[in-house]
This record gives sequence, C-alpha cells and structure tokens, in this order.
Amino acid sequence: MRIRIADDVQKSAVWRIHRARHGWIGDWNKDTKCWISSKNNQIVATLREQTYLIGDFEKNETWLFNLWVRKSFRGQKLGQKLIATYLQKQNPSRVFIDCKRSLRKYYEELGFCDEIKLTEKQRKQIGIHDEPNQIVLMREI
Ligand SMILES: CC(C)(COP(=O)(O)OP(=O)(O)OC[C@H]1O[C@@H](n2cnc3c(N)ncnc32)[C@H](O)[C@@H]1OP(=O)(O)O)[C@@H](O)C(=O)NCCC(=O)NCCS
Repeated sequence: MRIRIADDVQKSAVWRIHRARHGWIGDWNKDTKCWISSKNNQIVATLREQTYLIGDFEKNETWLFNLWVRKSFRGQKLGQKLIATYLQKQNPSRVFIDCKRSLRKYYEELGFCDEIKLTEKQRKQIGIHDEPNQIVLMREI
C-alpha cells in the first residue's frame, strides 16, 4: 500500500475522519502535514505531523498525532509502517508522539523510548490534555 503526504483534498478527508472520531481536532493549522496510506481511493491509515517551537526546548520540535488505521485494515501493523516511512523520509532528529500508554511497546519498537513530562505551559501550547492514560514519548537520533 502506498504511503504519501496528503494533498489538500485528502487532508480535509483526514480532518473529517478525526473530527468524527473525537468531536474535536486539537491544534490543526495550515502547517499541519498529513501522511496517509490509501487503497482504491479510500484512506486506510493516517498520521499527522506538526512542528512547534516550545519555549523550554528552544528549537523546532516535530510532533506526531492522529495515528489511525481503518478497522478492517488493522492487524498488519500498518500504523507502524506509516510511522517508519515518515521517519525514513523526513529523518527528524527529535520527534515526539502524544499517545496511549497501552501502546507504549508499539511505539518503542519504532525507537520512541523516552517518556517525557510536559509542563502545563507546554501542554497548553501544543493543545493536549493531561490524561492518565496518555503519555508523551520521544525518539531522538
Ligand atoms: C493503534 C492502531 C493504529 C494500531 O493499528 P495497526 O498498526 O494495524 O496495529 P496492529 O493491529 O497490527 O497491532 C500491532 C500490535 O499492537 C498491539 N495493539 C494494537 N492496538 C493496541 C492498543 N490499543 N493497546 C495495546 N496494544 C495494541 C497489538 O496487540 C499488536 O501486538 P503484537 O505485535 O504483540 O501482536 C489502530 O488500532 C487504531 O487505529 N486504533 C484507533 C486509533 C488509536 O488508538 N490510535 C493511536 C493513538 S496513540
């Protein structure tokens, strides 16, 4: 399955998928880049990339959100393949993911090994909530 950066039309479709799932979409702006996998013109997996300049880190940091695989396509680690392709093509030196604690092993397999504690100020800046089952993992090369 082909993995690529979404064009504007596909990006709107990604927005609708996640708006329907969560009822809200976080900090989605014009700089957000979406990576998708599709089959027969249907989006089957998504990943969203966003860059922030976070005060305390003092450099641009890449963040990943909205990893999702359509139900009928789960079980093939397609989400991991999407992230792996993103990492290979973009080669970010430091990348963060706001994710479910239950998926820690899933992300560790991709090199996201460090759990990061954010300050309230950083959370607000990124637009993520402090929830017990959510963690932030970092991959650094
Ligand atoms: C998370 C998600 C992207 C994984 O899809 P996938 O790439 O097809 O992954 P697979 O179903 O092949 O699962 C791979 C492994 O992760 C495990 N896994 C999958 N979802 C999991 C979950 N929610 N909690 C814990 N483990 C999970 C599987 O058991 C499997 O483990 P194994 O390798 O030991 O057998 C998909 O379940 C999804 O879209 N879920 C809804 C959105 C979501 O939760 N996104 C993640 C936000 S952090």
